[in-house]
Amino acid sequence: MTLIIEPIRKEFSAEVSGIDLSQPTTAVIKQQLNSALAQYAVLIFRKQKLTPPQFMAAAEIFGELMDQQLKKYVLPDYPMVGCNSTDDLPRKNGKLQVRGENYHTDHSNDRCPPKATTLHALQLPPTGGDTQFVDVRQAYDDLPTTLKETIKDLRSLHVHQSSRSPRELTKLSAEDLAKIPTALQPLVIRHPGSGRPALYLNTGRMEGIEGMPADEGYALIEDLYQRATDARYEYRHRWQVGDLVIWDNQAVMHQANADYDPEQKRFLYRLMIKGVALTAAH
Ligand code: SIN
Repeated sequence: MTLIIEPIRKEFSAEVSGIDLSQPTTAVIKQQLNSALAQYAVLIFRKQKLTPPQFMAAAEIFGELMDQQLKKYVLPDYPMVGCNSTDDLPRKNGKLQVRGENYHTDHSNDRCPPKATTLHALQLPPTGGDTQFVDVRQAYDDLPTTLKETIKDLRSLHVHQSSRSPRELTKLSAEDLAKIPTALQPLVIRHPGSGRPALYLNTGRMEGIEGMPADEGYALIEDLYQRATDARYEYRHRWQVGDLVIWDNQAVMHQANADYDPEQKRFLYRLMIKGVALTAAH
């Protein structure tokens, strides 16, 4: 079998074929896949059929596995493996309250946020439930020079849930909340793999901008968020059963969609890969 990497957009998102992820792979293939992830930021593998241990082994191609933060959404026999399941989602006025329903990057409140997150689709609704990704490297490149200058040294405190979060994050007991870290993160990071600068935003977790009056800080975050989530930076993934999608949390933001029939089951396994402490781009 020959590995084929076909870009979907220029330098952003690629479909990978010629590999069965349930089988052991070579050091050369691992290296090619890691380079592809650093370059394209979202990789899509179709028609995979992975048990939890096989999914873990496939994810380990990209690094060491990271613990799930929300222990209530893990597979009992494989606690490293999280699950995104409609069975666990609350409903409000008949609508599912889907986790991740605005653009975000995973666990930005960790000093070392996950390098990557991967989902493997086992059961899907007939329509809807896509996942969207935006390229925050390109969004940064396209900012006006004056705005780049304004934000280059700024940082934001990332917490479990921002006091101005546009969505409600999973409620935690006081005991669990005390264990959740907070981290000051640069607004513009140097990507740890590719070296490219990228916006680092997460409106659900950012508690303003360090040293800036609150309203001004949130207005700046909102302005950057609006720019970064422009449709021209988007790849929208339409899931098929058997897909494994892995994305780079320091190169994209992603969002889930609650646009499907709540009676239809959507079930995906989820794993995260450990990352490093983020540094500012300048
Ligand atoms: C997420 O990680 O935000 C969920 C993505 C999805 O289920 O589509």
